[in-house]
Amino acid sequence: VTPKWMLNNPVSLVSEEMNTLAKGIMTLIGSGHPTLNKVTSYYFEAEGKKVRPMLVLLLSRALSAIPVEQRNNIKIDFTDFETAPLGKEAVQKFLATPPTDHFSPLNIIHGIQSLKNPLTRAAVPLPDRGVWDEDRGILPKQRRLAEIVEMIHTASLLHDDVIDHADTRRGRPSGNVQFSNKMAVLAGDFLLGRATVAISRLRNPEVVELMSSSIANLVEGEFMQLNNLAMEPERVAKVPAPKKLDLQPHDYRVPVATRGEVPNHTSEDAVIASAFDHYLHKSYLKTASLISKSCRATAILSGAQPPVIEAAYNFGKNLGLCFQLVDDMLDFTMSAAELGKPAGADLELGISTAPVLFAWKEDPSLGPLIRRHFAEPGDVQQVLKSVEKHDGVAKTRALAERYRDQALQNLRDALPESDSRSALEFLTNSILTRRR
Ligand code: FPP
Ligand code: MG
Ligand code: MG
Repeated sequence: VTPKWMLNNPVSLVSEEMNTLAKGIMTLIGSGHPTLNKVTSYYFEAEGKKVRPMLVLLLSRALSAIPVEQRNNIKIDFTDFETAPLGKEAVQKFLATPPTDHFSPLNIIHGIQSLKNPLTRAAVPLPDRGVWDEDRGILPKQRRLAEIVEMIHTASLLHDDVIDHADTRRGRPSGNVQFSNKMAVLAGDFLLGRATVAISRLRNPEVVELMSSSIANLVEGEFMQLNNLAMEPERVAKVPAPKKLDLQPHDYRVPVATRGEVPNHTSEDAVIASAFDHYLHKSYLKTASLISKSCRATAILSGAQPPVIEAAYNFGKNLGLCFQLVDDMLDFTMSAAELGKPAGADLELGISTAPVLFAWKEDPSLGPLIRRHFAEPGDVQQVLKSVEKHDGVAKTRALAERYRDQALQNLRDALPESDSRSALEFLTNSILTRRR
């Protein structure tokens, strides 16, 4: 039985994997160019929260508690990065041996690993992955996915800090300040390129599609934030309804009655509702998509059945939306020193997030300020006062709590009880108490 202090510290269950995460990433991003290496590894050197890889690893463990009879067998592909060093013949020999009990993902990997390399006659460790430990319940591809998701996230931060003119990140000068905009952008592109190579080497077309579309979603989210279309009625009227074709089955949209119609903004209430819809959809794209799609990919790699895959996806979506709502809340409540990045940045950038939108519901005088992106002197002060008066932050917290509760429900739907599920629940709860 896992001691309680360990459950309260989700990291401890996957600490081995978390400790080697950076090393794994370094093997994926090495280049022949020393300066490029310096810029691409810069954000990995500072202590980030690493929420995304932690989710992938804990979810992998929690999924491994699902009985093997309720999972698909993992198909062995001779070009898999973890089986390739053994050679096709060795793998075929293993597969031809009748399995003793189950033919599960765990014992396939375990069995393959126990094979002797025909060249060295030694047992072959999984390259760079350490020795497979059945207890840990994490497949090599899921470990690699944890590295990939952190690489994509870090690439987006390098670009984001250029876009936002941020001067700090993770308590240090941001990449753009330390190295220049040009290098930060190129390093982000390079990280994405290497992440894409690693994704394709997972040899799972569904996972390739999920992760690639999450990269595209990050850009779509940033674009929605640039344009703030929903807040400008004249421009909204000119924007055609989104084509059905643009949506993948799991490309979440906030369900609203008006979706797909050209909004008729005759009342301010409808404008605010549309701004909220816009905000939540943007939040899904810029934050929740990467999290939810990597949770979905984790479940697919575990051989889970469709209802479990769906619940894992919904868990990531709800957690991701909760995460972004809290992020937008902290921008109002914390200092730059506490955050390790600029505070109050959203208003400075002219961006209206949940606390402002909640205040706008009660205070119509904010409309013009929001539309001009707080460009006039005194705008930021007025909106801060209004957010305070109308409890914008508390209302944002309450909405985040609703997403957290849904995420917790998704976990219970998807996973049997286990230490790892408890750790995931703990992690989900801690999103609301985080201070950076
Ligand atoms: C942080 O948001 C930024 C994101 C969540 C996504 C940024 C995405 C891009 C810049 C698109 C390009 C994507 C890739 C993959 C290269 P924030 O600015 O609200 O948060 P912050 O306070 O941490 O800066
Ligand atoms: Mg940004
Ligand atoms: Mg930013």
